[in-house]
Amino acid sequence: MTKPFNFSTFMREEFACYSKEYATHHVSITGATKLDKSKGGVFLFLHFGSFFLSGVSLIAQLGIKYTAIASTENFKVMDREESKFWKEVHKISNRLYSEKMFLSNHTKSSEILASLKKGSFVGAALDVAEIGKKHKFHPFTFLYNDILLQTAPARLAKLAKVPLYGMTISYDQKLGVHNLELTGPYDSCDVEKSVQMILTEMEPIIQNNMDQLFHDIFHLFSFPRLKDHIITTKQKKECLSVLAPIKQLKSQLPSSFCPRFESTITSWHPHRDFAYNLVKKFRPEIIVELGVHYGDSYFTFCQACDELELNTQLYGVDHWQGDKQAGFYGDDVFQEVNEYNQEFHSQNSTFLRIDFTEALKSFETSSIDLLHIDGSHEYQSVRNDFGNWLPKIKKGGMILLHDILVEREDFGVKEFWKEISKNYKTESHQEGFGLGVIHV
Ligand SMILES: C[S@@+](CC[C@H](N)C(=O)[O-])C[C@H]1O[C@@H](n2cnc3c(N)ncnc32)[C@H](O)[C@@H]1O
Repeated sequence: MTKPFNFSTFMREEFACYSKEYATHHVSITGATKLDKSKGGVFLFLHFGSFFLSGVSLIAQLGIKYTAIASTENFKVMDREESKFWKEVHKISNRLYSEKMFLSNHTKSSEILASLKKGSFVGAALDVAEIGKKHKFHPFTFLYNDILLQTAPARLAKLAKVPLYGMTISYDQKLGVHNLELTGPYDSCDVEKSVQMILTEMEPIIQNNMDQLFHDIFHLFSFPRLKDHIITTKQKKECLSVLAPIKQLKSQLPSSFCPRFESTITSWHPHRDFAYNLVKKFRPEIIVELGVHYGDSYFTFCQACDELELNTQLYGVDHWQGDKQAGFYGDDVFQEVNEYNQEFHSQNSTFLRIDFTEALKSFETSSIDLLHIDGSHEYQSVRNDFGNWLPKIKKGGMILLHDILVEREDFGVKEFWKEISKNYKTESHQEGFGLGVIHV
């Protein structure tokens, strides 16, 4: 079942997807064949979907030079938390885009023109207007409404003699992918006609995903409000209040986590989405896993940190001999897992091939953010692992306990879980064999 979006959570969730890695593998681009990469161009978009991710996808997948025209004026009318969030978005964009973003309130048009003439591509929102500045607005129709939009970026394309393109990105909740649809090229000589065509081609995409349209375009850019061709601070604030940030970030989007590693041991597979989202929200600095085996859970954490571009250090502890419940196995398991770790995660992931108790001395008190306990599953082993490692967890950290639902004679996790739940704040996740979260 799909869930409705809300602006604040949507943008924050989208922000977590905002990386070269994600843009390369999880954004599907259509309409790119019509793009003339030898010339520069202007991509026009609306504040719809993850418009920042669009630019990174164009760079990553099409190999073009791209930056956007942004504005820092809105920061002045936002509250502290919201402006902090958007400043961070700008900071990361400046890192991911081919060059620093142009600022409509600072950059000279001649600089943007020079960049376009050199063959770069520039993205610009159609539904923008600088507060208090007298813009030249033009009438358009969009989704049966009359609206006024300024066409300054499109006019820059005309001056630079480069084409215009339409750009719309939407998130498909069911498939867990982003779809970036490019339209055009449109003739920049006839700016108003081209902008109307872009809007018309965007309509069906946006109609199918109305919950991802953030700015109240019909309100702010409607005729009576813009009769003086000026947006006032009061109007802008009114519009932004709809986009008020929420204090607690709740995952409303299903993760689009696509595991790169998978063994035939499937017991942890139902928890991978949860683990990915947990890393996304919690952004741990140190993750330790007790019981790696082939790495189905461990590499989920590694991949999540990798895709989210976190500076997390991960440690996998296992003597790689097996145990009663997992079965005993040979050296080949470690060879295989270690090879994978070396190849894909050697930068931030370390294996400790020792007993759990011996590994304790490798970690300082209150140093671990997230500990996953998945070693031997007898009652006493789980109890020992928990008790031994608890002092190593930071205040505010978490311990995950696997197999809390298993009812088997040789499994004591369920019993231990029942006990521990009385003393700690816990959450139980009922998928598969159950995953418990203990807040320390
Ligand atoms: C259930 S498996 C881990 C499963 C793994 N987390 C996954 O996602 O598939 C348990 C692992 O813990 C290891 N193990 C059990 N007790 C241990 C101990 N005291 N010290 C080190 N490793 C141990 C075993 O070698 C085994 O590989």
